Formats: sequence, structure tokens, C-alpha cells
Amino acid sequence: MTQAPATPVVTTTADAAVDPTAAVKQLGDVTLPLARRTRGWTGSVIDASVSLLASRTNDIVRFGMGAPAEQVVPAADFAEFLGTMTNPSSYTYGPTEGETELINAICESEDLTGPRTVDPNRIIVTSGGMQGLDLAYKMFVNDGDLVAVESPTYTNGSSTALSYGAEVLQIPVDDDGMDVERLARDVETLGRKPTAIYVIPNFQNPSGVTMSLARRQRLLELAHEWNSVIIDDDPYGSLRFSGEYIPSFAELSPDDPLVFSARSFSKIIAPGLRVGWVEVDPAIRQLLINVRQAMDASAAVPSQQLVAHYLTRGGFTEHLDMLRTAYHRRKDAMLEAAAEHLSGRVELTNPDGGFFLWATLIGDAADIDARELFETALDEGVAFIPGEAFSPAGEFSNAMRLCFASSTVERIHEGIARLGCAIEVQLSRS
Ligand SMILES: Cc1ncc(COP(=O)(O)O)c(C=O)c1O
Repeated sequence: MTQAPATPVVTTTADAAVDPTAAVKQLGDVTLPLARRTRGWTGSVIDASVSLLASRTNDIVRFGMGAPAEQVVPAADFAEFLGTMTNPSSYTYGPTEGETELINAICESEDLTGPRTVDPNRIIVTSGGMQGLDLAYKMFVNDGDLVAVESPTYTNGSSTALSYGAEVLQIPVDDDGMDVERLARDVETLGRKPTAIYVIPNFQNPSGVTMSLARRQRLLELAHEWNSVIIDDDPYGSLRFSGEYIPSFAELSPDDPLVFSARSFSKIIAPGLRVGWVEVDPAIRQLLINVRQAMDASAAVPSQQLVAHYLTRGGFTEHLDMLRTAYHRRKDAMLEAAAEHLSGRVELTNPDGGFFLWATLIGDAADIDARELFETALDEGVAFIPGEAFSPAGEFSNAMRLCFASSTVERIHEGIARLGCAIEVQLSRS
């Protein structure tokens, strides 16, 4: 996708270009005793884009935030079910590990956990996928440990590793996912083994690529050689619309305590419900519940009951089929529009599922800084996330993440045409 740096790229919180804490550390004559880890929390450019767009008044086609299309969120069904939740037990504390009905529904759904029998003792319900990642790092990562991540990566996830004091080793991604042989070489060069390896194996955020079966198997081998935990973050896996199903790490290596799977309903039901789950070896489940109790009591009970109802009432596979069909169409529309409006200036990935395309500026547009293009694009009426937002080391200044999931086919054509105009304007300024 992009020329990979020759030597290992390792980022720590001390590398933060700007110290986000500087402005609030000295307040009048008070020096706040801010923890060192706050220096690494530069914030999520991805999440910040929501408030940035809210301040614009012109019409903007939104390829930025990775949110499901509004039209596919079954809000009316939710409202109907919530109207029946009149028992106060729906609004009290629930078990930390999650509502039993939801855990059982997750285990029984082939769409969610693949073609296998899953022991409910492997599952803990979380407040979204992010909490699963937080629990994983909290449980396994000490200050100064090495954590390998993909490059580009979902930086909300790598920032969590940084917040626990990890040093983040960035491994390039190509069309088959993380380059695991490069990971092996970098580990040898550094003379340090990673405590954890964070991967998004299906329709990766942001690149859209999927890790091949051979690489998954090799990564499992390396994890066992080094005793590293694989943090398998897969919120998009049920959204495959083309290509062959590839088994998950938990399927390839059953009963493997080194596999920690983080999942979410955010992309397949609705992100505002904040419900996800983790699958772990039953031997560490109680410890994980203890870890989680130092964080919160449980995921929101009404949200869990709503999701459980949605999974068990019938029609969940049909709901996913509807999403897959819609997103396939939208991805094709984005590629078609790009062929018409961005030809020779942008190289795109072609994912088999999920939400995102990764666009690299090429040809006469190769030197455009995507952050500058972003400002121009907003004026032209289209938003994306600049590539640097997906790199702890600030790489990919000439790339963009484009979310095809949230906009209709017509809006996608319009938005890509506007992006073509924005590139034109940007070139005319240089
Ligand atoms: C790869 C990846 N992991 C985790 C998350 C977080 O999901 P949730 O909203 O369920 O916390 C996202 C959301 O964008 C994601 O893309």
C-alpha cells in the first residue's frame, strides 16, 4: 500500500509531538499532579471529526466517521421493545460478566462466533469493543512492554496500549494484512518480544484489507514462540460481502489462552447501545471479571436486553444480509465514482467487507498533504479522515480513510466528485 520504513518503527508516549497536558497542568497557582500517562492521550482524530463537522454549516458528504448508515439502524424495532421493558429489574445492576440471555445468544449465533460450539464461560459482555481492548491491555501490558500493531492501525486501540505504558511497534500492512514475517524480523532486530500483538484481521480499520489464513496461522506460531497475547479486534467480521470466510484465531486455535478476542455490536446493530463482548480462555475469565470490576459494574442492562432480544427474536441473519448487500453496493459505488473522478490521482484498496477503503494519493497528487486536503475538502462539501490519524508515528500523510458505509449510493457519487474537485483546488494552490 505504501513504502514501508526499513527499520523497526517504535512509538512511546514520550514521542507525542505536542504535550496535550501542557495547557492544563498549570492553572493559576495550582500545578495539577497529572499522571505521566496523560501525555500520551493526544485524543482521537477520528472521534474529534464528529464535533468538527457539527460546527460546519455547508452540506458535507460524510466519509469520515465509521458509523453504520442511519437507514439500517432498526430504531423503530428498538423503540417498540423498549416500550415493553417495564420491569424495574431491567434498570438495576446486572452481573459483571453480562446478561445470561445475551451470552447464550452470542454463543449460539454462527454469524457472530462462526461454525463451532462456544462455551458461555468464554464470554464476557463489554461496553462496546473499546472496553474489550482496554481490558486486554490492562490485564496483560506492563509499563515499557512492547506491543505490536498494524500500520496503519485503529489508533484508538493503539492509544489504549500507549496509555498503559506500552511501546508500540508498527508493522506494515499489505493486501494480506499484517506482514508477519516483517514482525518476526523486527522482533529479532530489536531483541525484544512483544507482550501483545494487536490485529484487526477482517476488513481492517482503516485499510479494509483482510489477513490471509496463512498469515493467521503464522502469527499463532509466532505468538506461541514468544508467549505473546494476540488481541484479535474484529468488529467488522460479520460484514463480509465477497470472498471466502476465513476462520478466526479462536477457531484456528481452540482453547488457546494466548488468544483474546474483542467483538462489538456497534457496526452490526448500533454503536450508541455500547454493547460488545470478549471471548477468552475460561481459566482467565474470573480474573478478567475482577479487572473489569475495577472499571465498571457491567455493561448497561437495558442495552444488553435489547441486543439479546434482537438476536433471539428471529431475523438477525436477514438483518446482516441486508447490511452486507447495502455495503457491497456502496463499496462498488465508491470504486466506480473513484474511477470516474479520481483516476490517476488515488490508489484504492478493494475490501471484501466492512466499512472502509484506504486511498493513497498518487501521480500529480502524490505530494498533497491529506490534512491540508481535508480543509479544502470540507469547503467543497466532503469529509474523510486523513491517513496520519491511523499512525502512532504520524506516517501516511498522503493517504485517506474513506467510509463507504454511512452514505447512500447517490451521496457517494456526489462526495467522490467533490473530493475530485478538492484535489484539483489543492493542486492549483501548489
Ligand atoms: C477496529 C475497531 N475496533 C474497535 C472499535 C470500537 O468499537 P466500539 O464502538 O464498539 O467501542 C472500532 C470502532 O470504530 C473499530 O473500528
